[in-house]
Amino acid sequence: MSLVPEFQTSPGMRDILPPESARWRRFVEVFAQVTEGAGYGQVISPLLEDLGVFQRIGDATDVVTKEMYDFVDKGGRHIALRPELTASVCRAFVQHRPATPWKVWYAGSQFRYEKPQRGRYRQFDQVGIEVLGADDPYLDVEIIALGWEFFRALGLRQVTLLLNSLGEPADRAAYVQALQAHFDANLDALSEESRVTLQKNPLRVLDSKRPQDAPLIAAAPKIADFYSDAAAAHFAAVQAGLGALGIPFTVESKLVRGLDYYRHTTFEYQGGTLESAQNALGGGGRYDGLVESLGGPSTPGIGFALGLDRTLIACDDEGVFPAPAAKVDVFVVDTTGGLQALQITAALRELGIGADRAFENRSMKSQMKGADRSGASFAVIVGSNELDAGTVVVRPLRAERSHNADGTLRITDDTRDSTQVTIPRTDLLQYLQKALT
Ligand code: HAM
Repeated sequence: MSLVPEFQTSPGMRDILPPESARWRRFVEVFAQVTEGAGYGQVISPLLEDLGVFQRIGDATDVVTKEMYDFVDKGGRHIALRPELTASVCRAFVQHRPATPWKVWYAGSQFRYEKPQRGRYRQFDQVGIEVLGADDPYLDVEIIALGWEFFRALGLRQVTLLLNSLGEPADRAAYVQALQAHFDANLDALSEESRVTLQKNPLRVLDSKRPQDAPLIAAAPKIADFYSDAAAAHFAAVQAGLGALGIPFTVESKLVRGLDYYRHTTFEYQGGTLESAQNALGGGGRYDGLVESLGGPSTPGIGFALGLDRTLIACDDEGVFPAPAAKVDVFVVDTTGGLQALQITAALRELGIGADRAFENRSMKSQMKGADRSGASFAVIVGSNELDAGTVVVRPLRAERSHNADGTLRITDDTRDSTQVTIPRTDLLQYLQKALT
């Protein structure tokens, strides 16, 4: 008989189970702390938008042309599951016209029909920020620095920051022309895949990791030679600002990023432990022009998004940001039928003490196993003797932790039974409140 269930998650989609799910929640909490401490407020966007909103990301990007989950709804609207949140935030800005600078953060699932592999999924989560309505290189620095600070807050140490500027739209256009000419003149040396990319967007050829393309890419014109004075000054100020904050970065002139809307500053955070195709933990940049393309007034914008899934893989690899410990403080073991456990857990929870219990009137041994698994600090035990006497047994569950002379951790288990106490039932709440502080 086959043990494979009839239904499983679709390719590229996953169930996130406890305790990993608690880690996901904590991840978003830390992000909220870092960004709200810098004046950002949360925006919660719909999972679905009119397809046209996402088409503004650019029709030369795979995200739009190949990876969109789009369909016609029952009302005949052509809509799509969001592949990212920048376009939705700009659409919301145009719709609601909040005061500027509008500083927002977000968290949630995105959908892209990609080839699933480690660190690349069809449903994946991002956290990110966007600021609309301010054109100041020091804002670029603030944004980049907040991402950097967040990685530090998680405990990651092997993240590197790549920085580039795509210049003003006219600089970028002149550069794209020069790139096109360079690749056109050497078409035979280019891989077949890159020749197809060249038709759509010469900039994306720079992303190619195929060895055949490497010499031509290395010899390609450099964007820095196309900057206007204003673009060069903006980029210099961003670099000076990062320097002033002591944030290390590498200028990478080939960093064009996968989305079409970028101008001026672009950046990417790369993990030190992941494979190169999936080592971008996050990225972003300026996208002056996107708000107009969605029908709004001319409004500068900048932001980034970080991939939660990939960043947690990087945390695993670096051995940081583990899942938070289980939450219950007390596990109630009741061998008298379960009513005592019902009452005691309710009373504890009312006081804000996390409490769990076993069901189905299991044996003492089985309930104690549950108590151990729960991660609780104490078991409260009620058997028929205690019930008759109006008492309870309180047993410390956590092993005693101390340090050996050489600094290593010593865990002694055998203190458990000797430290358990029998106390009047009426004293229990007060006793635990004190013991747990
Ligand atoms: P993005 O580079 O497309 O940018 O995505 C940002 C991050 O999301 C990536 O660096 C990666 O960590 C994660 N990510 C992307 N696709 C996947 C996937 N299939 N599976 C797992 N993780 C993935 C944006 O989305 C822009 N909206 C960023 C931005 C905000 N630019 C300006 N503001």
